[in-house]
Amino acid sequence: MKESTLAIRTKASSNQIPGHSSPIHLTSSFQFENSEEMRALFAEEQQGNVYSRYSNPSVEEFLLKLTALEKGQAGWATASGMAAVFSTFAALLEQGDHVISSNALFGSTHKLLNEVFTKWGISSDFLLAGEMTSIEDHITDQTKIVYIETPSNPGLELIDIAAVAEICKARNILLVVDNCFATPILQKPLELGADIVIHSATKYIDGQGRTLGGAIISSQEIIDKVQAFSRHSGPALSPFNAWVLSKSLETLDVRLERHCNNALSIAKWLEQNEQVKFVRYPHLPSHPQYDLAIKQMKKGGGIICFELQGGKEAGLRFMDELKLFSITANLGDTRSIVTHPSSSTHSKLSEEVRLEMGITDGLIRLSIGLEAVEDLQEDLNRSLKAIKKPRFVNAV
Ligand SMILES: Cc1ncc(COP(=O)(O)O)c(C=O)c1O
Repeated sequence: MKESTLAIRTKASSNQIPGHSSPIHLTSSFQFENSEEMRALFAEEQQGNVYSRYSNPSVEEFLLKLTALEKGQAGWATASGMAAVFSTFAALLEQGDHVISSNALFGSTHKLLNEVFTKWGISSDFLLAGEMTSIEDHITDQTKIVYIETPSNPGLELIDIAAVAEICKARNILLVVDNCFATPILQKPLELGADIVIHSATKYIDGQGRTLGGAIISSQEIIDKVQAFSRHSGPALSPFNAWVLSKSLETLDVRLERHCNNALSIAKWLEQNEQVKFVRYPHLPSHPQYDLAIKQMKKGGGIICFELQGGKEAGLRFMDELKLFSITANLGDTRSIVTHPSSSTHSKLSEEVRLEMGITDGLIRLSIGLEAVEDLQEDLNRSLKAIKKPRFVNAV
């Protein structure tokens, strides 16, 4: 064979070596033994990998692990959390259908329901998180899906999943829960009666801020419908990202333990500071839904939100004075992160909607990472002290 052919056709035998850690199956398509095998796979008479937009062993391994953690029957992986949200609605809704959703939603999900799906005749009602357990008056014959996020981003409002599930079950409506903030380690919506769990794997599941990814976990029947839509619309998760996410799932449990312990001690400490107006954290007794948080979530999660005396101006100065916390849009990372939701992640929403979601102009969100809690506390303390002084000090 010529050099070019050798360079293309030479194969390592690594696929046959039983590596202790699974290899990445970075391939767009799969080779068939012969034309009959190809025909049988395309005719779906035989199971197997055909093309990575449909399935891939690295993606399959990620899904097997996440499905087991969420206690679902089957799963489908997507290129981002928003692709998971979009694919779920697009696969399961038809023209004329109606969705009831909590308004305490991630901004892009709100936009999808409010601006994109309306183009195709799908309407939505948005209710306050506290109203989601009494939705009966808003249900119509067209209501197909109830959609919730709990805890919500960034206000950390909680919704009683089991109570909403009971209403939905009685009326044959699908309950979809975005479980991104809690992860299956802290909360298992399917066990509480939900039908579908959505993930932005970009957050705690990756946990190190490297990849985008999403997933839908549900019954086989529902995943078959999502798959039928997604095979042709193409939001597939890349095998490389699936491999990263699959490895990350192996440490999710221990990472969450540290995220939660760090966050709880910082939330308690912040609450004692006279410069702080209020702190919201699910496992703080001062959280308005503390009893539900204890019942529904194993631990309080890694996100805290709070407001300083002095509102927006004090909050923005506080962010700028921090040295250890990163100013970035992500969350669920090993590195602690600070954001100001009303001027960044939720800035596209109207002020009215933001206020309904509890996003005041002075609200600060912390995603507590895995650094030593003493170092994080020292950084927060130094910044709180710094903002007590006037911004500009005359040097003379
Ligand atoms: C609760 C929640 N759901 C969905 C998403 C969307 O995920 P992705 O950024 O992976 O598309 C996010 C992103 O921040 C989120 O916070």
